[in-house]
Amino acid sequence: MILVANKEQNMKKQEITSIEKYRPVYHYTPKKNWMNDPNGMVYYDGEYHLCYQHDSNDIIFSDMSWGHAISTDLVQWEECAKAIVPDNDGLGMIFSGSAVVDKNNCAGFGVNTLVAFYTSTKPRQQQSMAYSIDRGRTWIKYIENPIIKNEEWDSIPDDFRDPKVIWHKDSQKWIMSLAVKDHIEFWSSCNLKDWTKDSEFGQGVGSHGGVWECPDFIELSVDNDQTNKKWVLLVSINPGGPNGGSATQYFVGEFKDVDGQMTYISSQKDEKWIDYGTDNYAGVTWSNVENKAIAIGWMSNWDYADKVPTNNWRGAMTIPRELELKNIEGEISITSKPAFALKQIIGAAIATIDDASINSNINVGEELSSSRIKVKMDICDIKDVGIEIGNSKGEHVKIGYNKLDTYFYVDRSNSGENSFKSGFAKLHKAKTNRNLESLDMEIFIDKSSVEVFFNNGERVMTEIIFPTEDFNMVKIFCDNKIEIREFDIKRISLI
Ligand code: FRU
Repeated sequence: MILVANKEQNMKKQEITSIEKYRPVYHYTPKKNWMNDPNGMVYYDGEYHLCYQHDSNDIIFSDMSWGHAISTDLVQWEECAKAIVPDNDGLGMIFSGSAVVDKNNCAGFGVNTLVAFYTSTKPRQQQSMAYSIDRGRTWIKYIENPIIKNEEWDSIPDDFRDPKVIWHKDSQKWIMSLAVKDHIEFWSSCNLKDWTKDSEFGQGVGSHGGVWECPDFIELSVDNDQTNKKWVLLVSINPGGPNGGSATQYFVGEFKDVDGQMTYISSQKDEKWIDYGTDNYAGVTWSNVENKAIAIGWMSNWDYADKVPTNNWRGAMTIPRELELKNIEGEISITSKPAFALKQIIGAAIATIDDASINSNINVGEELSSSRIKVKMDICDIKDVGIEIGNSKGEHVKIGYNKLDTYFYVDRSNSGENSFKSGFAKLHKAKTNRNLESLDMEIFIDKSSVEVFFNNGERVMTEIIFPTEDFNMVKIFCDNKIEIREFDIKRISLI
């Protein structure tokens, strides 16, 4: 398999793009059919593995297995053979999970084996394991699956899934976080095969509008201070998101030995969200990446994922993002920024600060539909300010900040096709407690999505859109005087 994209592959990608008008240029999409959550994300031997919930026969969710793509740089992806598929083991479909590198051969499959953990769905949800001894090219199911049985069928509901496994240095154990209906369970193991339940976290804290799913558990330093580290628990929830449907919340806390059991403790009171848009779900981080938390999420929402008007394929991933912990006005929160890898595909400018004008459309051409906009402005005396991107048909998306009520927003009310789901065409908000004097936005546009990083990723909003014609116009809007400090639009292409 050739992993480094060559010109021929890129040509193919370009052809596909023109036939399928909503297919993104630089976001991962499966060649065919349905995709949801990212799974089994592990970095090993110079390669990032991205597995995902995939239905190989249909563009709706039905017969799930792990699709698989590999990249050496997080932007050029090569779809390869499916990693893990259902068979006649009687354990059903392959639901979400994670993968690790077993550097010390704890499981006995060999040094540096890639070991994956997933949920089997039959007869009830239980945890299973598979491993690869050939750098992720083929995966062997563990003969004694399931490794965590769902034995108490009467008391455990059939929401017992999405194992995320990490190596926990302090306790010298593998820790698995598992989503169980309305909480997370922490299990531990020394050999990756035998697991003991240590503790639970979540009842009565955080958001509980729906079932808890797809946890991730990462240790991050605050403001890059290696002596001040916190454990962050990511929990996806469906429904119950800040703007409806599914979304990913997080907690900041400590992970400690309490009476011999590893226990998560967080005093966090408020709900916190990785992304306030409606279209970043089940996002988790790559394992085995040193000193960085690089995450990717499924760019859709269970509210309408099976109805979006794409042909041949359904579901894309977000751009890869780096998660950091920052102390913002006394509160420790996650900020997200586009992963460094994206720099290599951000190309020439299609508009610069010299093109900036206020409250009038600037026609920058169709390259806007696969581009990155950066803007920074002083906004002392305004009520409402932002950027509108649109096309000649009047379809547009407004991205801005309402200073009066202190919220960021993305308004996709008139962004193109939207009749597939009532309530899709709406303005979504990300509340901030701060009254800003200056607004900073980095916006990634890719055919059918916008991802907005407000004020250096203090708030993020990811939204899918379906404009019937490529966007080619930009307008900076405001209701009073602003000072534009920075403005540029750069094309993004994989060639
Ligand atoms: C989250 C989820 C997971 C489950 C998977 C099934 O989107 O519901 O909890 O494992 O999707 O595809």
